[in-house]
Amino acid sequence: MRTSGNVLNGFSRWWFPRSKARTLVVVYILRVMLPCVCADDPHIIHSPGQDTVKAFINISYMDRDTNTKKEEHFEGRYGKNSVIAKASGVVMHTLSLLNKSGISYTNHFGCTNYINPKFPSEQWIALVKRGECSFTNKIKMATKDHNATAIVIYNNESNTQYLPPMEHDKAIAGISVMLSLENGKQIVRLLNEGYTVHMHIVPGPDENLNAQAQNSISKTSVLFVSISFIVLMVISLAWLVFYYIQRFRYSHAKERLARRLVCAAKKAIAKIPQRTVKVGDK
Ligand SMILES: *[C@@H]1O[C@H](CO)[C@@H](O)[C@H](O)[C@H]1NC(C)=O
Ligand SMILES: *[C@@H]1O[C@H](CO)[C@@H](O)[C@H](O)[C@H]1NC(C)=O
Ligand SMILES: *[C@@H]1O[C@H](CO)[C@@H](O)[C@H](O)[C@H]1NC(C)=O
Ligand SMILES: *[C@@H]1O[C@H](CO)[C@@H](O)[C@H](O)[C@H]1NC(C)=O
Repeated sequence: MRTSGNVLNGFSRWWFPRSKARTLVVVYILRVMLPCVCADDPHIIHSPGQDTVKAFINISYMDRDTNTKKEEHFEGRYGKNSVIAKASGVVMHTLSLLNKSGISYTNHFGCTNYINPKFPSEQWIALVKRGECSFTNKIKMATKDHNATAIVIYNNESNTQYLPPMEHDKAIAGISVMLSLENGKQIVRLLNEGYTVHMHIVPGPDENLNAQAQNSISKTSVLFVSISFIVLMVISLAWLVFYYIQRFRYSHAKERLARRLVCAAKKAIAKIPQRTVKVGDK
């Protein structure tokens, strides 16, 4: 009885450790598994300083002299809270009035209502200069108040190396793109010469891919972690159930054995011839 009990005890201790040890093991497995999923992902590419998406901008117009379609390509950056999507339309350089110390200026800052004599009849893109008011103001004016498909804001300072990241209100969900002063001026020159300029804005392919990859990776990571968690839960549960079944069976067996022994002892005692001992017996 003693040996079988020891074997069972040893077995159960090895196979079904006490709850503290079990918790430790689960915590350890989680700790080891979770950081791997996130840190060792080879697909997450960090690009410091470039937290806006590249925008490829094509413009096309019919050249009057040669009567051929001409194309030009620029690179801009989507606003931080811009909708990252394709957009196309006819470009309109906006005209607004701005009152400054009593004098009213016609300008291209797009801060107040557009006063252009003629709006394009098809889908159009507002071309606006940076400055005088917030990006949010400009974007709202173009996409909300005037129903432009997108807004392209060209810089007010000559700096081809760096386009300032365009911060604006998330609530204004339009397509907004920042362009350099030089590129902006080039489009303005064509418009001033009376050309009808068509524009196509396409998200940069690399950033687009990265965004998609990151998206899918975060999804697979979440899926992996969830599945690991569920598996661990199931293992722990199975472990627990096993442990209690084993314990129940063991205690049951022990009880039965004890009962049998008691029975045997009683029988043995019954077999011993009984004799009443009296004083003086030898
Ligand atoms: C823009 O120009 C690039 C380079 O020529 C070309 O590959 C791309 O198809 C053009 N995109 C659009 C929308 O016209
Ligand atoms: C600007 O000021 C002029 C004259 O003071 C006024 O007629 C005009 O309505 C003002 N425009 C805006 C947009 O406030
Ligand atoms: C360009 O616009 C920004 C933002 O409105 C302003 O701070 C800056 O002074 C402007 N620069 C020039 C040269 O007008
Ligand atoms: C805004 O533009 C879209 C197409 O770009 C057009 O279908 C819609 O009718 C326009 N809405 C208004 C209020 O002009």
